[in-house]
Amino acid sequence: MALSQSCRVLTGKSLLNASSGSCSVLAKHAASSWSNVEMGPPDVILGITEAYKKDSNPKKLNLGVGAYRDDSGKPYILPTVRKAEKIIFESNLDHEYAGITGIPDFCSASAKLAFGDNSHAIGNKLNATVQGISGTGSLRIGANFFSAWYQKSKDFYLPQPTWGNHTPIFKHAGLNTKSYRYYDPATCGFDFKGAMEDISKMPEGSVVVLHACAHNPTGVDPRPEQWKEICQLIKNKKLYPFFDMAYQGFASGDIDKDAFAVRHFIKEGLELSLCQSYAKNMGLYGERAGAFTVVCNSAEEQERVMSQIKIIIRPMYSNPPVHGARLVSTILNNPELRSEWLVDVKGMADRIISMRTKLRDHLSYLGSSRNWQHITDQIGMFCFTGLKPDQVERLTKEYSIYLTKDGRISVAGITSGNVEYLGDAIHEVTK
Ligand SMILES: Cc1ncc(COP(=O)(O)O)c(C=O)c1O
Repeated sequence: MALSQSCRVLTGKSLLNASSGSCSVLAKHAASSWSNVEMGPPDVILGITEAYKKDSNPKKLNLGVGAYRDDSGKPYILPTVRKAEKIIFESNLDHEYAGITGIPDFCSASAKLAFGDNSHAIGNKLNATVQGISGTGSLRIGANFFSAWYQKSKDFYLPQPTWGNHTPIFKHAGLNTKSYRYYDPATCGFDFKGAMEDISKMPEGSVVVLHACAHNPTGVDPRPEQWKEICQLIKNKKLYPFFDMAYQGFASGDIDKDAFAVRHFIKEGLELSLCQSYAKNMGLYGERAGAFTVVCNSAEEQERVMSQIKIIIRPMYSNPPVHGARLVSTILNNPELRSEWLVDVKGMADRIISMRTKLRDHLSYLGSSRNWQHITDQIGMFCFTGLKPDQVERLTKEYSIYLTKDGRISVAGITSGNVEYLGDAIHEVTK
């Protein structure tokens, strides 16, 4: 459209009237620097939530999003978080900047939570731990640090499948993403043999990304004996383990059990990096509290590493937000609140585990001929149901049940009130 025409259309006035303000805006518009920008695809998970919101079926169910819900389907604020909020409010704190690496008490408490109270790595000051913008931001700091300083390889091996954001996070930092076998569709379980074979073929120095517990999206974790073998292989092959622990406590309800793999690798003397998130285990989704740690070989190396991580953070966002980290720090550094929090976490994990059992029991009550054992074998927030894309489509179209095309459901969205409806629907589409 000619510029004069578009002026008329947009302003509804004569060209003469539109010759000043709006036309100069249009002129700029016509010569836009962004005419080459293509419309990008919407985020898969957020797209599901949009479709769910538009659905008027009163029985609709959103099992796409990875956020914990209570048994009435409502967002859950942990009682300990409420208590910490009160303590922080009454402390009348100011809003000054944190340091580049965040709140020191938060960082030390995060390291202790992951590595254990008596960790020799912490005792020997080997951990370079910084506060990150939740799990995602911590992964991004790690990715940028590796991109800048890890000389042995630029290849990051991700489990197949993995959390959808892993690939873009590492790619955006200039790293190469590759994959290793992890999930076995035949058993809906862990492909231990495949994972071991693929890991054994990785070139020396490659980075292996490991979900510390409650693997997203499959809910399938290695058993402790399998973790030990994976650790030995990674050690023998001189690979670098990069852990993502977004669900500590959420898998088994026990923060120590869930940290088994990370602690075992450290005990075996491996160097490693770790990303943590408090989105799920403290319900602090929007507060963006997380941490990134590099476990170094000496205290002197730790200082050098820390100095470079700071140099990476400073031009990204200067310093992290304080409120979420204050909540975490208040809870973890107060022994009474900390033990209450352990009960809160266990409560969430137990509710998820009980929903798994109820769903499986209901499917068997309905006489389903399928083997649904994996629903209770898998752990954490997600269940990889094994449903095929056409079955997922029927669930959404006919029952207003929303989930990702790969058949992943967020068990945290199931309640006593909707578990039978879900079971009935799954049974119908899998007959
Ligand atoms: C495996 C994994 N890593 C990291 C994250 C990071 O989440 P956040 O940035 O909300 O802490 C998630 C969240 O879904 C996840 O599943």
